[in-house]
This record gives sequence, C-alpha cells and structure tokens, in this order.
Amino acid sequence: MSAPKASISTLIVGGTAAYGLDLSPWRPVGEPIILHTPYGPSPPITLLQPDPDHPPVGFCSRHGWDALKRSAAFLNHRAIIWGAKMLGVTTIFSWNGVGAIHEALDVGDLVAPADLIDFTRTRVTTFGHPDLKPASGPAFHPVARTAILRSLPSAPRPSPLANPTYVCTEGPRLETAAEIELYRRAGADVVGMTLSPEAFLAQEAGIMYASLGYVTNFATGRDLGRPPRRQFGPVVAQTCLPLLLQAAAVLDVSH
Ligand code: HPA
Repeated sequence: MSAPKASISTLIVGGTAAYGLDLSPWRPVGEPIILHTPYGPSPPITLLQPDPDHPPVGFCSRHGWDALKRSAAFLNHRAIIWGAKMLGVTTIFSWNGVGAIHEALDVGDLVAPADLIDFTRTRVTTFGHPDLKPASGPAFHPVARTAILRSLPSAPRPSPLANPTYVCTEGPRLETAAEIELYRRAGADVVGMTLSPEAFLAQEAGIMYASLGYVTNFATGRDLGRPPRRQFGPVVAQTCLPLLLQAAAVLDVSH
C-alpha cells in the first residue's frame, strides 16, 4: 500500500443524487484524489473544508460522478473502503436512499439505521479474511451513529424511529411485494441496496462506519393507501451532505 500525500480522518460516501452535486458551497480544497487499490481505482475523493476551524473531510460519490453510472449491485465496494484506509480514514459516514417499510415513515424522512439484515447474494463481503470472524459489534458503529443522530435535530422532521433496521437487497431490480412483506416480518424498517458489504468491509478495515438513510419512496406494496411519492432528486444530497459534515464536526470536537 503506497502512502498517498493527503491524510484525512473522515470520509463521506455519497449515495442518491451525490452525482452532479455542486460542491462549491462546501469549499473544496485542491484536486480530487484517486487511490490505486489492489481492487482497482477508488472513486475520486474531494476534500471539503466548509469550516476553517475543522480539518478537511473527504467526499466521494459511490455511484459515479456526473451521473448515476453504476447502481449498487455493480459497485466496487472494496476499492472505496481500501482507498479510505490508504488515506488514513478512521470514520466513514455515508448516505443512501431507502424505501420505507415501517408505516410510520414518510418520503423525506431521515433514519440512522442501528442494524442490518443482509439479503444480498453475490457480493464479496471481505478483503480476504480466510476464517470465521467473531461478530465485532453492531454493523453500524455506535460512536459514529451517535454523531449522525446528534446532527439530526436540525433535519426537516424528527426521525420517527429510534433504532431502525435496514435490509440490504441484491438489486438491481426492486423487490416484489412478497419479498418486502418477508423483510417486514423479519423486523426490517427500511430497504436499500448499498450498505452490504460497505459496512462490513469498513468494520474489517477497522474504520468506524454509520449511515444516514433518506426515505426516497415507499417500499413495494407499502404505500398503504398513501399517494405514491418518489424523491430521488438533488434535495437528497443537498439534505444529507450538510448533516454528515455536521456529524464529522461533532466527532472532531468530541475527540
Ligand atoms: N428498494 C431497494 N432499494 C432502494 C429502495 C427500495 O424501495 N428505495 C431506495 N433504494
């Protein structure tokens, strides 16, 4: 692993609508960095320093830069997490669009998942660990998750669920209504396609990882008589990036 010139402690991995986001309000520093990892190139990582009193934070868009180039099923998760490790990152915050399974959730709500059910089937979830691994704590790191929760009071409305569970599906197709009903009975509150293996690889790399979910739609069959709504537009990124930068600042102050 060759040491890159920059070193940062926090990386924000952007999901829905991160592509094409105008980063100028968050004061980019220098040119984007691409790390050459054993798994291929990382996405370009831009350093952002909105507040000169806090160190720069890395930002990358996991689905590509100027457009949605790769959906979750086709991402190079290992290059992202390995690249973060090369930069010395100790915390990753990510955001991702989720479908609402729990009836209390509405489109536009924000959730910080407390646990994860993995229903993916084809993804590589390790850097090559040859043996059984003891579970090393919850999928989402409590310290990083608390930093996200502390950034949420300023969000559009209080998060309706205290400890939501996220189910990760394989994609790229959306789920059937029967699948969503299975996940609901298993205890899932929101559904997405991105957090496995990202969270598990970060854990293996010794990086604290937590995620912010933006409810973009009702999961299949879960509109429950409400008019169908979808929000995959720029507002997702414009809401999530500042909250995660705030979470990074919370963490910076508390360390
Ligand atoms: N299903 C899976 N992934 C998603 C959804 C969904 O309904 N919404 C946003 N990401």
